Amino acid sequence: MIKRIKIVNLLKSKDYGKVVNVKGWVRTKRGSKNVSFIALNDGSTINNLQVVVDHSVLMEEILQPVNTGAALSITGEIIQSPGSGQSVEVNAKNIEILGLADPDEYPLQPKKHSLEFLREIAHLRFRTNTFGAIARLRHALIFATHKFFNDKGFYNIHSPIITGSDAEGAGQMFRVTILDPKNPPLNDDGSVNFHEDFFGKATNLTVSGQLEAELAAMGLSEVYTFGPTFRAENSNTSRHLAEFWMIEPEMAFYDINDNMDLAEEMLKFIIKYALDNCSDDLAFLNKRLLEEERSKKPEERSPMELIEKLRFVLENKFERITYTQAIDILKDSNPNKKKKFQYVIDKWGIDLQSEHERYLVEKHFKKPVIVTDYPKEIKAFYMKMNDDGKTVRAMDVLFPQIGEIIGGSQREEIYDSLLKRMREMNVPEKELWWYLETRKFGTVPHSGFGLGFERMVQFITGMGNIRDVIPFPRTPLNAEF
Ligand code: 4AD
Ligand code: MG
Repeated sequence: MIKRIKIVNLLKSKDYGKVVNVKGWVRTKRGSKNVSFIALNDGSTINNLQVVVDHSVLMEEILQPVNTGAALSITGEIIQSPGSGQSVEVNAKNIEILGLADPDEYPLQPKKHSLEFLREIAHLRFRTNTFGAIARLRHALIFATHKFFNDKGFYNIHSPIITGSDAEGAGQMFRVTILDPKNPPLNDDGSVNFHEDFFGKATNLTVSGQLEAELAAMGLSEVYTFGPTFRAENSNTSRHLAEFWMIEPEMAFYDINDNMDLAEEMLKFIIKYALDNCSDDLAFLNKRLLEEERSKKPEERSPMELIEKLRFVLENKFERITYTQAIDILKDSNPNKKKKFQYVIDKWGIDLQSEHERYLVEKHFKKPVIVTDYPKEIKAFYMKMNDDGKTVRAMDVLFPQIGEIIGGSQREEIYDSLLKRMREMNVPEKELWWYLETRKFGTVPHSGFGLGFERMVQFITGMGNIRDVIPFPRTPLNAEF
């Protein structure tokens, strides 16, 4: 048996004359009476292997049913490529057809397909250059995230996916139940009796692993979660998913400044990892984006190419401003005065929309911005109150094209202050007895944040729509595949 070699390794090899086996899917087939060329891809790299089929060795008839999308096992000799570009080709000695793809039915052809069309065939889109590159990058970024935290001595914590409380108030939740929707057990007042449900109480899919991460940080010092989170809001935007992955570090003994330093360091580490380890895929995505930009109006084009933009973020310190400063800048801005914003900024206290965040980043500072000290009314109950009694130690990291990529804060560690905020904001203190107890026993200042992983992948791949950076997106009215 001749051992199979992955194309990524084969293309680096210089073992000319060696006979190897490769397996993969046909991207293109072309040729003449005497010789055929097959571009084969096995997903291990964006680059195809050129397979040369000499018809004096292998009859043309063998390739007759082979089209784009067919799966082949090819045994042949490594040869030096006569053409420029790639250095290695394979001279086929034997071809086994593993699976054919009928060209009348197979929807992927060697031409450009729209991203919208590819979303409808998400079961096949891994076989395209774009989605292969995104999948490999996504993997690399997951790995880089774990490496970053592991190297710093953080412990990965699995927070629960099913939770018994809408602790965060971060958004609408998906109910988890085994009760019969047609005939649920009822209380005397007609409401559903969840005591008879699987867990003996109403449960939901989690919107965040933060509260559990805080419990772990109160014994392990530095931890992080990296898990799926679910939000049932009806947001049909290019930056919202109903199911997305979030990275949530939580650190004892960190204040808001330590928290910002960690967020900036982490984002830069992950971006650098991509630049250092995914150059082929990034070069492809860079080119793809350039082509896409060309079809836009000049004023809508990005001022930087993808790779240039990633380098730029690495090399510049993020701007740090308070919410109050942000409001002053926005109030005075041209789009605000000319009423170009959909939501006009007229007073202190209102929440920033993505259009405002992007103005600060893309037009005003022209680099990532961290906004801190938001009004307490627009942030979660657990954020540490500032001495002014009006603002909390929140921090949002804003990125070009994305807007908010990270949300976090220093946490309120004083029992009485936390309880007061919970009561003011109608957070059920009984349900969160365990959360409150951490403030009763050995409480310490601590901080944490959440990075939306898909928004990060969007930024690094330059993909405009979040549905294209997760293999199987879940959005309102869409849970196919
Ligand atoms: O700002 P959020 O809601 O913060 C939290 O959930 C905190 N518990 C985090 C923490 O302090 N541990 O969400 C954090 C990030 C956002 O900045 C955004 O990047 C991403 O999660 N995010 C979403 N990504 C995709 N689709 C959605 N619907 C998202 N909602 C939030
Ligand atoms: Mg947020």
